[in-house]
Amino acid sequence: MRIYLDYNATTPLAPEVVDAVVSTTRELFGNASSVHHFGQQAKGAIDDARAAVAALLAANPFEIVFTSGGTEADNLAIRGAAEALEATGRRHLVASAIEHEAVLNTLKALARRGWRTTLVPVGQTGIVEPGRVREAVGDDTALVSVMHANNEIGTIQPIAEIAAIAHERGALMHTDAVQTVGKIPVDVKALGVDLLACSAHKLNGPKGAGALWVKSGTRMQPILTGGKHERNRRAGTENIPALVGFGVAARLAAAKMPAEAARVGALRDRLEEGILRQVPGTVVNGARESRVPNTTNISFERVEAESLLIALDLQGIAVSTGSACSSGTLEPSHVLRAMGFSAHRTQTSLRFSLGLFSTEAEVDRVIEVLPAIVEKLRGLTKKTRQAAAING
Ligand SMILES: Cc1ncc(COP(=O)(O)O)c(C=O)c1O
Repeated sequence: MRIYLDYNATTPLAPEVVDAVVSTTRELFGNASSVHHFGQQAKGAIDDARAAVAALLAANPFEIVFTSGGTEADNLAIRGAAEALEATGRRHLVASAIEHEAVLNTLKALARRGWRTTLVPVGQTGIVEPGRVREAVGDDTALVSVMHANNEIGTIQPIAEIAAIAHERGALMHTDAVQTVGKIPVDVKALGVDLLACSAHKLNGPKGAGALWVKSGTRMQPILTGGKHERNRRAGTENIPALVGFGVAARLAAAKMPAEAARVGALRDRLEEGILRQVPGTVVNGARESRVPNTTNISFERVEAESLLIALDLQGIAVSTGSACSSGTLEPSHVLRAMGFSAHRTQTSLRFSLGLFSTEAEVDRVIEVLPAIVEKLRGLTKKTRQAAAING
């Protein structure tokens, strides 16, 4: 039995999505910019996908710019807005310290080109305090970027309040909603943002498809230069099968949303409570009240997270030490560090993220095998320490 509990890294495709991607790949090979029948068929398929993604965000279809994924959508939001606003003299960007690398490294790149950047600190709740954003934003701020939910700990941010603060100072507001779209209701108007990024592969859609919602009238420069695709906002021949798959995934997510969020939330709580009860020395990272329903991040005292991850993998259970981009390295999570946790806490934390195919039997299996694995690893650490003491 293989158990996948890493849905925040990526999700398996829904069967309906696989069917749509396969049939589109086979049948709709036309270039959507072509005027002939083949092109128009492809264009029709993209329009349909655009309507589905727009509906999921309670947005207008013409405000959706399809991209290659969340990373590109974040880049387009930040670089596109920065370039459009450069001439106004606004040369300052604000983001939270717990953003995804797609945002943080884009800010770093712009800082090298002379932009001033401010990262808003976050406490141990993992929730950005609007007051701290107010302190950071000035009259020269072009854009504020705060993620809707954090990918490592799942905490949901007070985006509407932060957007209001950004707007008071005349700045644009971007939110990276890659970890919320498809999991919880996302309404661009209720959030009050100007830009919102999402990604198909986080909602049982294919990789290589994402979207940036751009509020009508927002000043933006494209970051890819080329043809007139996506109303001059993103050049390049569209990846029709991936976008069609995105549309199908969006419709499925919308249809299943309240029931699926409740089901996955109950499984996550069962897992979390089971672990806290069965494994001594465990604690949840971040506020438990305001979180996406599928995520928990737990610290296992005196257990190296990487060793635990490998031990679980050997038992057929896939989890993560944080963002996928940093897995494979021993670098502690920048999110947990930014929250002010000790090096020990950051190095002993694992993320469990559930989704569409998660079951109660899987959760129970994890709760069953974890205590012995943790005890064994703690024993090994103790023995290594004792051996080191004797040898030293
Ligand atoms: C919060 C967040 N933003 C952006 C991304 C990047 O999205 P993509 O993998 O589609 O480029 C991810 C993916 O891990 C994410 O979790």
